[in-house]
Amino acid sequence: MTCSDADGGRSTAARAGTDLFQKCRDYQAWLDAKIGEIGFYPYFAAIEEVRGTTAVIDGRDLLMIGSNNYLGLSWDPRVREAAIAAVKRYGTSCSGSRYLNGTLTLHEELEAELAEFVGKQAALCFTTGYQTNLGAISALLGKNDHVFSDRVNHASVMDGIFHASGLRMGSIKVHRYAHNSPRDLDRALSSAPADAGKLVVTDGVFSMEGDIVRLEELTEVARRHGARVYLDEAHAIGVIGDTGRGTEEHVGQPLADLVMCTFSKSFGSIGGFVAGDREVVNFVKHHGRSLIFSASMPPANLAAARAALNIMREEPERPRRLQQIAARMIREYKALGFNVDVAETPIVPLIIGDDHLTFRFWHALFEAGIYANPVISPGVPPDKALIRTSYMAIHTDDELDRVLEIIAAVGRRLGIIGP
Ligand SMILES: Cc1ncc(COP(=O)(O)O)c(C=O)c1O
Repeated sequence: MTCSDADGGRSTAARAGTDLFQKCRDYQAWLDAKIGEIGFYPYFAAIEEVRGTTAVIDGRDLLMIGSNNYLGLSWDPRVREAAIAAVKRYGTSCSGSRYLNGTLTLHEELEAELAEFVGKQAALCFTTGYQTNLGAISALLGKNDHVFSDRVNHASVMDGIFHASGLRMGSIKVHRYAHNSPRDLDRALSSAPADAGKLVVTDGVFSMEGDIVRLEELTEVARRHGARVYLDEAHAIGVIGDTGRGTEEHVGQPLADLVMCTFSKSFGSIGGFVAGDREVVNFVKHHGRSLIFSASMPPANLAAARAALNIMREEPERPRRLQQIAARMIREYKALGFNVDVAETPIVPLIIGDDHLTFRFWHALFEAGIYANPVISPGVPPDKALIRTSYMAIHTDDELDRVLEIIAAVGRRLGIIGP
């Protein structure tokens, strides 16, 4: 063993100048100190077993109110059986890109059904929702185009924009407008040259705030400036709209030029799709690098998403039940004195503000048998740390009663709500 092997290569790197890995050691030291200070670590908790709304962690049953499995379909026997049958028929992987050997008839059948479901001409499946945003946004933004993104859009939207910016050598002009503000979008669009290509990107339901995009007003502004509209429906399909078809159904009009969604939430699977006019989808199919240079969505996930889609079409009572649950939880949290800010969907944040208090709240819930998610900056603005609670159509009224009882008791004990 050489001297540099023994110290992990530190001395050699130190002699040569700044060690690239120093930041990792600094980060580890910071993280260890932080965990020591708060006494536990609230992230990356390993789940040992799942039973519907129950997750088993460290041998304990926890009631899950921190999942995006909005319709409970990842646990539905029909979805699970479809995944098993697909593995038996096609194997576990497509072992290649859509472009070459990785397209199954299952991809094309699912795409046709999705296009019909969201009312667009064509759809295209990617391996994850993240890759969908990365591939579709970066394919569509060309040299010198302008893109307009809501300030709190999901990270994958921003990464799609950064990816495009890198590919087009920084020539893309990026504008971030105030959250859900048609007025600020108007201001931003007015600052762009009239003849520039323009894309407005917004989430349909915002993933931390739980509010719904003002789609009619935003698209009216976008149209006035000749901009196209790209709608991320990750938290909207299966969740809002009378039959769960998302934001366009919620507002009663097909206003977006392109709709994307992930399968990792209501669809109980993993993967994603973008849908719109045939030529546009075909362009993305031939220019989306995350589609072309990555292996395609595997058979089990395709079959699971397809079975879930079928259930969504046949059981509109699921999104309706979810909407009732959302209305009840928002109402009850407000009555207890919690700040849920702008929530209007089954994503109900309990705004705590302080990071430390948020972690204590999370830990008390965990100890009492409830699994929720603590979110601090940069996930939310620095003074808006929150506990993100999210509900599933399969939560029973008894389970929701238990959640409210425990959260009220913990909130009182920590002084977050009054006695
Ligand atoms: C709004 C939004 N878009 C896209 C994604 C990415 O989806 P996936 O988990 O399939 O990569 C997420 C996931 O959290 C999301 O919340």
